[in-house]
Amino acid sequence: MGNILDGVKIAASIYADIKSRCGVLAKKGIVPGLATVLVGEDPASHVYVGQKIKQCGENGLSSIHKPLPATATEADVIRVVHELNRDPKVHGIIVQLPLPKGIDPEKVIIELDPAKDADGLHPFNQGMLVRLKSWKDICASGIPLPCTPAGIIQMLLFENIPVEGMTAVVVGRSTLVGKPVAQLLSSLNATVTMAHSYTKDLMKVCQSADILVAALGKPGFINKDGVKKGAVVIDVGITRSQNGLKGDVDFEHVKDLASWITPVPGGVGRMTVAMLLKNTVVAAEKMAS
Ligand SMILES: NC(=O)c1ccc[n+]([C@@H]2O[C@H](COP(=O)([O-])OP(=O)(O)OC[C@H]3O[C@@H](n4cnc5c(N)ncnc54)[C@H](OP(=O)(O)O)[C@@H]3O)[C@@H](O)[C@H]2O)c1
Repeated sequence: MGNILDGVKIAASIYADIKSRCGVLAKKGIVPGLATVLVGEDPASHVYVGQKIKQCGENGLSSIHKPLPATATEADVIRVVHELNRDPKVHGIIVQLPLPKGIDPEKVIIELDPAKDADGLHPFNQGMLVRLKSWKDICASGIPLPCTPAGIIQMLLFENIPVEGMTAVVVGRSTLVGKPVAQLLSSLNATVTMAHSYTKDLMKVCQSADILVAALGKPGFINKDGVKKGAVVIDVGITRSQNGLKGDVDFEHVKDLASWITPVPGGVGRMTVAMLLKNTVVAAEKMAS
């Protein structure tokens, strides 16, 4: 069986760094604050926001929770975002997605102060990500990176998994995951193919990957026919089922082929919240300097 890329272990190292940086900021009287905007009653969103608030409490950040009813309008949500933009105690803001029908997430996200964009989804920050060529330049810019893609890169770096010169295939091209992770892998000098629902012969394309990122939201879709022996397999998918969370990769049949593989749960998902808190701490450091 391949090595497990352990999200619990790697996220713990991120939290240790966050705690120590919060300690330095505390000496200057600064507590990094993460604001969570939650609209409506979606049960999964409530769980995700609860996890974020819990991790803030455990790692030296304050959390500012802004729940809004499902009846809230786009204007109501934007008004809250503007308030948080102005609040000096808030260094990072996340608007939990998905938003209820009738509220356009693009119209809300663009209203965030890009400096407080803890999720790294503001068009300014995503535009910078496209413009900056190397990983070194991206890190030096201090822009907040989309959390799940940044978490995936941290996993590869933590385990010293070579990326430069590797062939990477990313299945999925969303703004949240697929596009930014492809951009980040390219910044680390991988040769990247972005596959999607129109890709012909998808399993053959996946077979070419040294690093395969599955972010399509179809449980168990990537089977052993899509995995080259020795490939690094990153499973981003999270689908809730009666038997718990399911990833996009058929873990049981792929694990013996992969050199490294992320489990679901306990893989990429664990990194996402850690990177959200990290973006907030970095924003607080920048605002303090
Ligand atoms: N672990 C985490 O923390 C985390 C964070 C975010 C998301 N997720 C999970 O990751 C998965 C993807 O999320 P997302 O927001 O990126 O989803 P999304 O916005 O629905 O995008 C899915 C992408 O997959 C592609 N796709 C769908 N079916 C396909 C198929 N049969 N063959 C090839 N490509 C296909 C789509 O192609 P088209 O563009 O052609 O439609 C699209 O680009 C979901 O399970 C989500 O829950 C996990």
